[in-house]
Parts: sequence; C-alpha cells; structure tokens
Amino acid sequence: MAQRYADFRSDTVTKPTQRMLEAMLSASVGDDALGDDPTVQKLERRFSDLFGKEGALFMPSGTMANQCAVATHIVPGEEVIIESSAHSFAYEGGGLARIGGAHVRTIEGENGRLPLGQLAGAIRPVSVHMPRTGLICLEQTHLFSGGTILPLDYLREVSSLARHHGVPVHIDGARLFNAQVETGVDPADYGRTCDSLMVSLSKGLSCPIGSLLIGGGSFIERARRVRKWMGGAMRQSGYLAACGLVALDETLPLLAQDNARCRRLGGQVLGMDGLRLAQDTIDTNILFLEVTHADLDAPMVESALRDEGVLALALGDRLLRFVTHRHVSDADLDHAVAALARIVAKN
Ligand SMILES: Cc1ncc(COP(=O)(O)O)c(C=O)c1O
Repeated sequence: MAQRYADFRSDTVTKPTQRMLEAMLSASVGDDALGDDPTVQKLERRFSDLFGKEGALFMPSGTMANQCAVATHIVPGEEVIIESSAHSFAYEGGGLARIGGAHVRTIEGENGRLPLGQLAGAIRPVSVHMPRTGLICLEQTHLFSGGTILPLDYLREVSSLARHHGVPVHIDGARLFNAQVETGVDPADYGRTCDSLMVSLSKGLSCPIGSLLIGGGSFIERARRVRKWMGGAMRQSGYLAACGLVALDETLPLLAQDNARCRRLGGQVLGMDGLRLAQDTIDTNILFLEVTHADLDAPMVESALRDEGVLALALGDRLLRFVTHRHVSDADLDHAVAALARIVAKN
C-alpha cells in the first residue's frame, strides 16, 4: 500500500470535497468565452457582491489573475510598487516585466506591510524624466512573512495615500479568506481599500482550479480583454466555478481551524533546540521555521521528515515551511511535532 504522508508543503494540495464533485456533475454550463456560462456568471456575481465591487472575472490561476490585473492597470513602462518578497514579484516567473511591461520598484516590508513613509516617498512626482507610478500591490495574507495579516486600518491608510496620488491599488488576496475568518472584517471593507483584488479558490478553499479577479466595471471589462490575450478565457468553466460556489459555504469556514492548527504547531515547536520560528507572529496558516541546528540544514530536515511520513518544504538552506489545511489533522500535527523532536535530538 502506498505510504500516507502528512502533507504540510502547501494548502494548494487540498482536493475537492464530495459536495464539490457532486456540484460539478450537476452544473449548468455554457461557453464562458462566448459569455454564456451561467455557473461562471453566478460565481462572478457572488464574489463581486461579497467584496462590494461591480464585477469579477473567473481566472485559471492566481498568477494569471495578478498578472492580468497589473497588465490592465498600467501601460508598459509604468512603475509598480511592491513588497520585495511578494509572490507577484518574486514567484511569478518575472511576469511583471514579461507580461505587464512593468518597471518594478520594490520596498522591503515589515510583516508584509510597505512602511507608509517609504511608500509615500516611492510615489514619483510627475516628471518627464521619471517612470510614472502606475500601481501599488499588496499581499493579504503576506506569504513570506508567515501568513501575516495586513490590518484593515493599514489598508485604509495605503488606500487614502494612493487615492491622494491617483494611483490604483491591487491586493493579491490568494489567502485573504484566512485573514477574513480571523479578523471578522466584512469582505466589502477589504474591497473598499483597493481598486482590484484577487482571491484564490485553489488553496485552503480546496477547489481544484481557479481564482477570481474582482474590481470596478470598466476595470473588469478591460481585464476581460487582457485575460483573452493571455489565453485565460475558458469554455465550460462552469464545472470549475461550481466548486467555488460550494467553497463559500463549505470550506471557507474551515479556514479558522487551519489557522488555529498552525498556531498550535508553532507553539509546540517553540523551544526545540536547533529550530526557531522565523516569523514574529502566527496569524494564519503559514509557519516558517529556521533551522539553527549546527549539524542540520533545512533540506536535511525536509528529507528526514519525509522518512517519517511528513512533508514540509525547504526553501533555501535554513528555511522550512509548514502550511496547515483541511487534509492535515490534529494527529498529523502531533506526528509532525514528534518527528521534528526526534530529528533534532538525534543529530
Ligand atoms: C500569495 C500568493 N499569491 C499568488 C499565488 C499564485 O496562485 P496560483 O498558484 O493559483 O497561480 C500564490 C500561490 O501559491 C500565492 O501564495
């Protein structure tokens, strides 16, 4: 029999629920590229209403949705201000330059936040000599600082600064719902702080495929054209959209458990010799550990964990990532903690 692994590599490994599979079987579909798939239209309406925006567009992936947003907001050569470890900048294959033609300006964040003073200073004055500031991008939750939540007040401050300068704001909200279930913030309040946002269905929400790009009416119409030339217009995508409708009811509330499990995992690792938390807080479902052990590095711990039936992700020499999601149980968590304790004690 194949070995079962407790898979903490990412929440993207989650598989659709039984209800999602049933919803796929019974979905009414059309041809969305021709504009007549009723299930896609329903999903887009649910999400635009949820975030208080005029429109939404169902996209194959979060990467495509982010890059489509950038290519819609800016004209090539305009500057995009973004946090230096943001997914859209660092992990989307250089798409900001390749697809959007963006002139990128990064700022090192503090727990995912662009410090307001630095952000204000980075917005360019109008000058024939300088790139025009075309967009500010934020990430909610911020993956590389450990799934940290950008507080609503902070988002409001960025939004008012950006509006003052006439610069739009895009939020990469791949895991925005992990923040939303923690804070209880009305999604429409998040919507009011930006001009566009992306939310993923295929992470903790457990859909097989899909993200939504959400924004104003004319923005979404222009994004629809960009999605087309990016190759993201789909046909009977209602089968996939059907899973998203189920997710709003079924898997979204479960994200609170994922967040709580991650905090428990962090708490149990705390104090183990040779490991330390590589983040200030555990706000949601992402945990980065630094391997400080003299005789071990992150790939060695990753490999030893695999031998114990636990999958984590080594990112570089010292960093090890754990992500909680609905396929890792409390027992998996206890097993991972015991395995980590054995590995650091043995060496
Ligand atoms: C913060 C963040 N943004 C965007 C994406 C891209 O999503 P996708 O994998 O659907 O392209 C990811 C994927 O893990 C992510 O973590």
